[in-house]
Amino acid sequence: MDFEPVKLGEMPKESGRATFIRRLLTNPATAAPAELYESKVVSPKFAAGKLVYVADAAHLETIFVERPEDFPKGRIDQRILRPIFNDGLLLAEGGDWRWKRRLTAPVFSPAAMKRFLPDIVAPFVTTAEAFLAAGNGPVDASGAMKSATLEVIDRLLFGGEREIDPDAIMTHVENYLAPTPWMVAYALFGISPAMPFPGQRRQSRARDGARNILGEFVARRRAGERSSDDLTNRLLAASDPETGGVLSDGDMVDMLLTLQAAGHETSANALTWALYLLTRLPAVQEQLIAEVDAVTAGGPVTYDQMPRLLAVRAFIEETMRLYPPAPSLSRMARKAENFSGVAVEAGAAVLVPVHLIHRHPDYWKRPDAFDLDRFLRPGRPPRTVYMPFGAGPKICVGAQLALSEMTAGLATLLQAVRFEPATGGEPRPLHRVTLRPADDLLVMAAPRGGRLRPKTSFTAPRAA
Ligand code: HEM
Repeated sequence: MDFEPVKLGEMPKESGRATFIRRLLTNPATAAPAELYESKVVSPKFAAGKLVYVADAAHLETIFVERPEDFPKGRIDQRILRPIFNDGLLLAEGGDWRWKRRLTAPVFSPAAMKRFLPDIVAPFVTTAEAFLAAGNGPVDASGAMKSATLEVIDRLLFGGEREIDPDAIMTHVENYLAPTPWMVAYALFGISPAMPFPGQRRQSRARDGARNILGEFVARRRAGERSSDDLTNRLLAASDPETGGVLSDGDMVDMLLTLQAAGHETSANALTWALYLLTRLPAVQEQLIAEVDAVTAGGPVTYDQMPRLLAVRAFIEETMRLYPPAPSLSRMARKAENFSGVAVEAGAAVLVPVHLIHRHPDYWKRPDAFDLDRFLRPGRPPRTVYMPFGAGPKICVGAQLALSEMTAGLATLLQAVRFEPATGGEPRPLHRVTLRPADDLLVMAAPRGGRLRPKTSFTAPRAA
């Protein structure tokens, strides 16, 4: 029988409030009503009109692309993320969002990605070497991908000279996010934010810890302590092309924290799922290895080679279809709406189950099967049917960076290593803001013979 990648788990049909809350608290992606496979817009009976799941591509066009101003980020994002990320790009709305986006987008331009690609590749070279050092033994793919992507973000955002401790910031962010299922439940059911929940004090300490580290770092950089060519200094120097506005120190903390948190765990999880799939799909892995060898001839992956790494890129895209790193998006309906006959009250929470849309049989043939050709064939799926990076004006500002990182990173690993399954069963997908395997994913990393071992000495030159 063909290999079928592990599924996310589904809510039983006609589930009531208790099942919904239990699932929301333990693994929110599995709280999406199974009825969505039939009607694509569902408002559970226990929260009729107040909580609406939308999986319909046309309505999603309305929400994300045609009238995004009528569907701002909702109570869930505001309650959970605002205390720590404040008005960083992720949560800013209206005019405040527009100027920050205008200022930030050029920092992620193709020219910037070309400049930074050696810094993106280098951490994966180190990871490949660590895998080789493990001989043919099992390696912790989840941990390795987290370290590699954190190192990428450290190099790009902070200059990579350990001027700041990115692990400490991430530990604070993780501690902050740990009790989020409670906050989601409170936000959805209109429970006051003043109501205590487990882990609340630790959460406040974590928020302050992360913001203090970055506050001190921004002050040092503002004082001109270091002139490295990294995204921090590019953001400090940037101004809004329309108004000339610049980011204040507080804006910088919001922005750096947002970029670090949004840009690290997402790519790490996508790459971890990619390694899981590689171990189960040996023929596909050989196809990718052949492409990587033909394109790179064993040298460091370069920006100019990226358009020819077509199968590697398609592999990443199909991985994110099956395991979208951001499996659920949420908005608030500013005014009353009617979607396919379902009444949506003004102020209702609109939940978008990206993971379910990515496997909806009305949109995909053999939706639960892995099929590399989906993203190799000409033509792309509609933008609200495949939306790992969201859609419309608030689409992920780091999407090109993430795609470059995942494609170049995976290609670099495959230059040195062939991945095989370790003992143990299938990973269990767990939704905790991002979608990850519930336990560390172990894989066997078999050396490819050293013939194509990548060179290590290609860190980008830095500005004086
Ligand atoms: C595989 C990797 C990534 C995935 C799957 C991903 C996914 C997403 C999604 C779905 C959104 C839209 C959220 C919404 O509409 O509610 C988003 C927004 C955002 N992402 Fe990413 N992201 C990734 C990597 C990155 C990276 C590398 C960065 C930057 C370093 C980044 C920074 C941001 C920011 C700042 C926003 C807010 C944009 C705005 O509202 O204007 N992301 N991301």
